[in-house]
Amino acid sequence: WETIHRPELFKICNDVISVYFYFNVQNFQARPDDILIATYPKAGTTWVSQILDLLYFGQTERQKTIPIFERVPFLEILVLTFYTVKLLPTTPRLIKTHFPIQFVPKSFWEQNCKIVYVARNAKDNMVSFFHFDRMNIAHPEPGDWSNYIHRFMEGKMVFGSWYDHVNGWWKKKQTYSNIHYMFYEDMIEDTEREIDKLCSFLSLSNSAEEKKMIAGGVQFDKMKKDEMTNYSTFSILDFKISPFMRKGKVGDWKNHFTVAQNEVFDEDYKEKMKDPTLQFRTEI
Ligand code: A3P
Repeated sequence: WETIHRPELFKICNDVISVYFYFNVQNFQARPDDILIATYPKAGTTWVSQILDLLYFGQTERQKTIPIFERVPFLEILVLTFYTVKLLPTTPRLIKTHFPIQFVPKSFWEQNCKIVYVARNAKDNMVSFFHFDRMNIAHPEPGDWSNYIHRFMEGKMVFGSWYDHVNGWWKKKQTYSNIHYMFYEDMIEDTEREIDKLCSFLSLSNSAEEKKMIAGGVQFDKMKKDEMTNYSTFSILDFKISPFMRKGKVGDWKNHFTVAQNEVFDEDYKEKMKDPTLQFRTEI
């Protein structure tokens, strides 16, 4: 690993920066029954992916033998020809993406695909991303925490600005009815209720008993122990630095922000988050 150099962020167009090349992604052909899971990184992608996988395919060998990143592959990587992960031959196909709204391949809109968007409050999302950037050698070095806060506020992140991401998807939801916009904090508060809402949106008829079992089976400690969901088999992550399943809490930001940093962050947040209909909870 010492010989691998971390990439630098670069500008791909207008104000969006990343380490990924998105150029051939527009050729991706979505099918009408594809389910897209969209998130800003570290908002609960893996959690919702596991829930959808269980809702659609039931508890089978699939979850015991195939890691989550192959059961629900990453759209951004699927379009890179050198990468070996392919979509599994299932119906529906579950696909995840961290794209901001403007990069979603147009075929998803044309096919009127169902999309589940998960958002997480900015402070916990940033803390989680900070630790992920530390352990992920495919990402630029996060540097120290006080600088990282400024980078986050300026949107100089892999996948760009959190503020633009959550607002962009929220706005799209007003005109495209096949987006289910959900919140990490709600899932922590009541996983079963959120699974119910998912089933209504996806027109799934899983039994109450099954939903209860899924809600119990996807609790943090279980997913942290499970090699097929905890990313321990994913080679570019250094678990000696930080685990992928780190804390799984609402409010861990309080262990990271100083009072002064919190004030600066809140001031800036008010400026960027003007839409009163989009509200996040930083504690529950
Ligand atoms: P923390 O770093 O705050 O612990 P993603 O899957 O989008 O990369 O998000 C990862 C974050 O979701 C991590 O947050 C991880 O611990 C948390 N997470 C994953 N599975 C979870 C679960 N079953 N319950 C609660 N949090 C979970």
